Amino acid sequence: MDTGLKTHVLSAGAAATATAAGVLAEGGLVAFPTETVYGLGADAGNAAAIARLYEAKGRPAFNPLIAHVADLGAARRIALFNGQALRLADAFWPGPLTLVLPKALSCPVAELATAGLDTVAIRIPAHKVARDIIKAFGGAVVAPSANLSGHVSPTTAEHVNGDLAGRIDLIVDGGPVEVGVESTIVGCFSDPVLLRPGGLTRAEIERVLGHPLQSPPQDAESEAQPVAPGMLASHYAPRTPVRLNASDVHVGEALLSFGPAKVARRECASVEMNLSERGDLAEAAANLFGYLRTLDKRNADAIAVMPIPEEGLGEAINDRLRRAAVGR
Ligand code: TXA
Ligand code: MG
Repeated sequence: MDTGLKTHVLSAGAAATATAAGVLAEGGLVAFPTETVYGLGADAGNAAAIARLYEAKGRPAFNPLIAHVADLGAARRIALFNGQALRLADAFWPGPLTLVLPKALSCPVAELATAGLDTVAIRIPAHKVARDIIKAFGGAVVAPSANLSGHVSPTTAEHVNGDLAGRIDLIVDGGPVEVGVESTIVGCFSDPVLLRPGGLTRAEIERVLGHPLQSPPQDAESEAQPVAPGMLASHYAPRTPVRLNASDVHVGEALLSFGPAKVARRECASVEMNLSERGDLAEAAANLFGYLRTLDKRNADAIAVMPIPEEGLGEAINDRLRRAAVGR
């Protein structure tokens, strides 16, 4: 549904940064690149802007947002950091890590953005364009991925435009993102919990903590009462059914392959895209959402996906693929 709003697109640079900061200050919605995926930003303290943001994405209002800040000082005005949280922030910020922490006493993030929880998700992105915009705006910016709710996350400005043109004020185009999957989310309470695998691997986090990360409780994927409220099982679904761990290809399927491995009846695929010919998981993560979008447009009976190792960034890739396979 087009709201009739004109969505401007600007190439990243000083002029775009100043315009973006002004639009945010007026309660507008600005999409910008982060190192993980494109985010859709709004003033974290402006409930009306956040309400517009939920509406523009078609996002269930119980699914809270990540506050993006420029430095640790700003983060500490929003949330309470224990020792482990400080260690993780020190090791990985700026970067693809989101921490879920207890809210600070006079937390400036609007209740609507945290969906009424007494915790808040927060990160310092590493992308220069994102950081410049946050600094120029001068406050926290809440930013979910800049896609319609339920679609795969956008890794280019074109993806954002395809989903949100006519619904948001501005898109700052900084080219394709580097990481390609969303940030890793860690809840820092008594024991740190991996709430969402993402662009920072479990192994890197565990190395800094010196012990294994806990897994979220089993009902984390329940739509009725999500633990990481956004961890809805079908969050990343393309329209085409997705068939995981394919060892062969059925006639009429599109093939999403990985590495140099063989797959039976490869010639039956109507189209094939290889996430990484050389089997590199970082390259596969960067290609994942774009390739899913492209294959989704081919009207295939299904997208057959070859197995991807559950190690390093493979944990996040397989998480997104499992969600894609659940369908919407
Ligand atoms: O890489 C990323 O994290 C991107 C870029 C734009 O920064 N953002 C992103 O936002 O992926 P979003 O809204 O698509 O995903 C945020 C996730 C949701 O699953 C949400 O439920 C969870 O963070 N979340 C936010 N606040 C939370 C909280 N207080 N407790 C638990 N989960 C929370
Ligand atoms: Mg998202």
